[in-house]
Amino acid sequence: MRNTTIRMAAQPATYRARRARLASQLQRPIVILAGHAPSRTYPANTYPFRAGSNYLYFGGPPLEHAALVITPGSNGDDGCTLLRIPPTPDDAVWMGEPPTTAEIAAAAGLAISRIVDPEGMRFWIQGQNAAGIVPYCPQAIVDARELKLAKPSDAELRAIIDMRLYKDAEELVAMRRAAEISIAGHRAALAAARPRATENDVEAALVAVFARRAARHSFSPIVTIHGEVLHGAAAMNPLQAGQLLLVDAGAEEFTGYAGDITRTYPVGGKWQGRQRELYEIVLRAEQAAIDACTAGRRYRDVHFTAAHTICAGLVDVGILKGDPDVLTERGAYTPFFAHGVGHLLGLDAHDLEDFGDLAGYAPGRERPARFGDKFLRLDRDLAAGMVVTIEPGLYLVPDIWRRADIVGPYADVVNRKAVDALLAENFGGIRIEDNVVIRADGPPEVLTAALPKKPDEIAALVGKPLG
Ligand code: GLY
Ligand code: MN
Ligand code: MN
Repeated sequence: MRNTTIRMAAQPATYRARRARLASQLQRPIVILAGHAPSRTYPANTYPFRAGSNYLYFGGPPLEHAALVITPGSNGDDGCTLLRIPPTPDDAVWMGEPPTTAEIAAAAGLAISRIVDPEGMRFWIQGQNAAGIVPYCPQAIVDARELKLAKPSDAELRAIIDMRLYKDAEELVAMRRAAEISIAGHRAALAAARPRATENDVEAALVAVFARRAARHSFSPIVTIHGEVLHGAAAMNPLQAGQLLLVDAGAEEFTGYAGDITRTYPVGGKWQGRQRELYEIVLRAEQAAIDACTAGRRYRDVHFTAAHTICAGLVDVGILKGDPDVLTERGAYTPFFAHGVGHLLGLDAHDLEDFGDLAGYAPGRERPARFGDKFLRLDRDLAAGMVVTIEPGLYLVPDIWRRADIVGPYADVVNRKAVDALLAENFGGIRIEDNVVIRADGPPEVLTAALPKKPDEIAALVGKPLG
């Protein structure tokens, strides 16, 4: 197989239809940049190239420096142009035979005449008064300035957001693949989590699976015995029996779609002390939140469903006291569960987050002010085709319990002795995360359901060779 095979998630006709739909809403051309592989140190030493997600969504084949131009009223082919820098004669020597113009056109669903080799990309784009959709990549930001691309209006961004929020059948095929590879990676991580292995051994087992499946990680994997550090990275810590290990990682499959799964389990396979009762609270919160993921439900209410379950569970085990309704209203869960219940998932692990709250929040809705809730990344009404994560957690974060501004208001309802005992034993943190697709009716499809999470089932897999 050639090393430059173009892999696309959707059929050419799908890309034409997406471009036509966007074009029908435009008043001026839009130029969507693919971006570049950022340099690590010197120019030839780059990170792997990953084309911008908007560019991929509208049918751009993964080519560095390319740009997709969509003009108002286009049918998705006429009036759409893929610009790319011509390969140099030496590219085939260093990078392999580049795809031909005809192959690129076919993959993108464009008539061959629509592809121009833009030695004059600048000349071609400048003067069109086009808006630029620019990936989060330093060189692309410079390019956009040089190409005189205007900042897109909120209406232009919303036109894109309103399409990308709802995954079509071809996207869901790719997302099921991302989920399946993510699950395989987590199974390998579970098997590798043996006493005396390090966090990094576990990460290596996980990413080896991704590499074998032509995938890579959709964000930097979190593999840590310090699960209370929400985005903590593997730090060579050796694993000891009885510690909780938190693994939050997902695959980006080979057309760009992401998985994002978290599992937490005891090294050695035996729950110790209070681990299991607190794990069961998180599991109940996760299940309640998943059950609440039905069309028409406000995602913020899914967050509060998880929060309520955590409050009720903490009352049951004597860490909080009071009425769970009142505790939830007051935010007594926030020192323990200091983040949102999840986010959109798609071409990015935090899908559409490059558009900020314009994507995550429905018009007229704003982020809550309260610590913890303010990290909620999504507040829209759920609808068929949306894919979200559900990932409640329960953490003992030493810094939080030193901050009177956060925990002071809950002094009357918190069993501080119990909290301090957990802090003293470095309890860490627990998070459980799955990926769900909202259906028009009924419960959601859980893409990641095949990865065990019941306490006995997951504990039985820890450190056991893969069957
Ligand atoms: N750690 C990224 C996430 O799960 O959202
Ligand atoms: Mn995650
Ligand atoms: Mn997530």
